[in-house]
Amino acid sequence: MPSLEKLKEQAVVGFREAFGRKPDVVVAAPGRVNLIGEHTDYNDGFVLPVAIDRQIVVAAARRDDRLVRLRSLDLGSTSEYTMDRIEPIARGPAGSGQAWSNYERGVTLMLQQAGYQIGGVEAAITGDVPIGAGLSSSAAVEVATAYMFRQLYELSLSRVELAVLCQKAENEFVGMRCGIMDQYISALGQRDHALLIDCRSLDYELVPIPSGVAIIVCDTRVQRGLVDSEYNARRRECETGARLLGVPALRDIDPETFARRAHELPEVTRRRCRHVVHENQRVLDSVAALRAGDLPTFGTLMYDSHVSLRDDYEVSCRQLDVMVEAARRVAGVYGARMTGAGFGGCTVNLVEVGQAEAFRRQVAAEYSRRTGLQASIYICAAEDGARRVL
Ligand code: GLA
Repeated sequence: MPSLEKLKEQAVVGFREAFGRKPDVVVAAPGRVNLIGEHTDYNDGFVLPVAIDRQIVVAAARRDDRLVRLRSLDLGSTSEYTMDRIEPIARGPAGSGQAWSNYERGVTLMLQQAGYQIGGVEAAITGDVPIGAGLSSSAAVEVATAYMFRQLYELSLSRVELAVLCQKAENEFVGMRCGIMDQYISALGQRDHALLIDCRSLDYELVPIPSGVAIIVCDTRVQRGLVDSEYNARRRECETGARLLGVPALRDIDPETFARRAHELPEVTRRRCRHVVHENQRVLDSVAALRAGDLPTFGTLMYDSHVSLRDDYEVSCRQLDVMVEAARRVAGVYGARMTGAGFGGCTVNLVEVGQAEAFRRQVAAEYSRRTGLQASIYICAAEDGARRVL
């Protein structure tokens, strides 16, 4: 895995090769892993993600005109647009392979629509957040882009505003109706901490990660095929549930109220809502457990979250389930669950530091034996959110 130093160097060299000069700034924005609180953010609920030590890095300089020139070093592709006419690029042949730049395009448009005075840029982009694995490479690209403009044009744009603008770019320009979690943690993450985010007020509390515990991410290497359409469908089901229960969002229903009123909902909606209502409570309980240093309780809540996502929310898949089962058999594992939107992607595991290597070996072996696939397993550090690195 390239270190941040390495990525920075790659970005600077790539920038010089593409644009024949030195960059004014280099910025980095991390991917994320969510410890608990899945599919709660767009229900105004609670989440507990960490920013991880995998980043998108952008070397950039201002231009005097209104042109944006982007060079993706990893894809070996260049994309250009004028800031006065920004349109999404179609995926597939019609888009001549430049659909990757829709995140940057969306962010450029949203910044302008929000009234920020920005001009042209040249930027070289690289990174080591795996794409399509559910570690929020797209949010990291959006946040890095917004942060780049913020630095180059000295915008007075708070980190929370920046995250909200990036989410808007993804919702309205890219067409994925994601919640705020990924952009928020990429912008506001803090080293050695998870963030308890209240997705209604957009406030957060810092929750220290206890020493002696490793956060391990296991990538099933199953590409998340259905994710966009199924994600938007789940969102609609939650909105229906909230409407039938007469509340602004499922955040407003606690588990006791839900138990009393669940019979008012049709069967599928009821299961979707049951997941969200209990998942919100699990986040609050897990923060209390983490603060008390009670890792076994935290781990149990992670396993419960997985079962609920598998059976009630129906966003897991066989490979994710196998990965969680494999983790559960390893000594020193407190908890495991799928993380992110689901339908493939990664699990997150909380493991005693001394057991991390044994975990890696055993889980990889069982996973490949039962699925025929090779897992990628990363031990992650909780890192800072978007920042200038040069
Ligand atoms: C994706 C979305 C987030 C969140 C998660 C599920 O990562 O981008 O907003 O909804 O799925 O928790």
